[in-house]
Amino acid sequence: MIEVRNLSKHYGSHRAVNNISFTVNEGEIVGFLGPNGAGKTTTLRIVTCYMPATSGSVTIAGHDVLTESMQVRAVVGYLPESVPLYPEMRVREYLQFRGRLHGMDRANRAAAIDRVVERCWLRDVIDRPIGQLSKGYRQRVGLADSLLHNPKVLVLDEPTIGLDPAQIRATRSLIRELAQEHTVILSSHILPEVEATCQRLIIIHEGRLVASGTPDELRQRMTTESNLIAELKGPESDIGASVRKLAGVADVRTTLQDGWTRVSVAAQRDLREDIFRLAIEKHWPLRELRRDIATLEDFFVKVVTGTREQHDGRDEAAAER
Ligand SMILES: Nc1ncnc2c1ncn2[C@@H]1O[C@H](COP(=O)(O)OP(=O)(O)O)[C@@H](O)[C@H]1O
Ligand SMILES: [Mg+2]
Repeated sequence: MIEVRNLSKHYGSHRAVNNISFTVNEGEIVGFLGPNGAGKTTTLRIVTCYMPATSGSVTIAGHDVLTESMQVRAVVGYLPESVPLYPEMRVREYLQFRGRLHGMDRANRAAAIDRVVERCWLRDVIDRPIGQLSKGYRQRVGLADSLLHNPKVLVLDEPTIGLDPAQIRATRSLIRELAQEHTVILSSHILPEVEATCQRLIIIHEGRLVASGTPDELRQRMTTESNLIAELKGPESDIGASVRKLAGVADVRTTLQDGWTRVSVAAQRDLREDIFRLAIEKHWPLRELRRDIATLEDFFVKVVTGTREQHDGRDEAAAER
């Protein structure tokens, strides 16, 4: 449904988006995750025809954003980062105005407004001026606006930013409902945000795509790397040597803490049973044994800081040449 190929956007010499490619399939809800300044808004503005790319291509439902922008706009609903609403307009007036911009006639407009007001729980505020609404309600007006022409694709840029926890929950569940009928891509700089709503994550950092996959796939990548913590009482070097001999062990670190040897093991498999048997066999008391399952947060921090180190390394190498 969305095809992004080798997309780049330069602001002067600054590469805000650097050769990004990804696909969003019909019916998917995809999270576009990255720290502030990663290039999320820039990418989404290109995808929604608000800005041309420097290079690369984007097609939505088979239409090119550059050469067929009218067709693209017809199938895309966009909630920008800061919703440009008119404070003095009442909700109904605003939606009517937006419906006219979409070229809807009076009857179509009335039906569409009815539909989105119902969808976004705006019935109670429909005759209130937008400027008097809470941030949560204004966000819903923005969502209602993006849904007016019943687009196949919804592009939501940080849809819950600035909302309080109750509003965030309400907005999340609304987005999940919308995802049943629309293909959705939503951006966030907060991992739990996209983890809670999205089937698949695309992580970008400094304009580059650094990882993508389902939350489970990304978590899986982490658990194969870091693994097991055990605390045994016995000679530190013997413990280290015995654990190293176990099958599938990649790395073992030991430290001595108040008479106990703390072992941290990186391995390809779950070693808990082996460690337990070892403790019995050697008569080493065991006071802790657990898998250190990395969280997705760990993964996010890792890819984001990891690429920074790589970049710095490259820059230094370039400076030396
Ligand atoms: N109009 C602009 N002119 C120059 N630089 C910009 C402009 N818009 C964004 N940038 C820069 O491009 C980078 C990516 O910005 P943005 O796409 O807004 O990131 P995000 O939405 O992930 O926070 C940032 O370093 C930002 O400062
Ligand atoms: Mg942004």
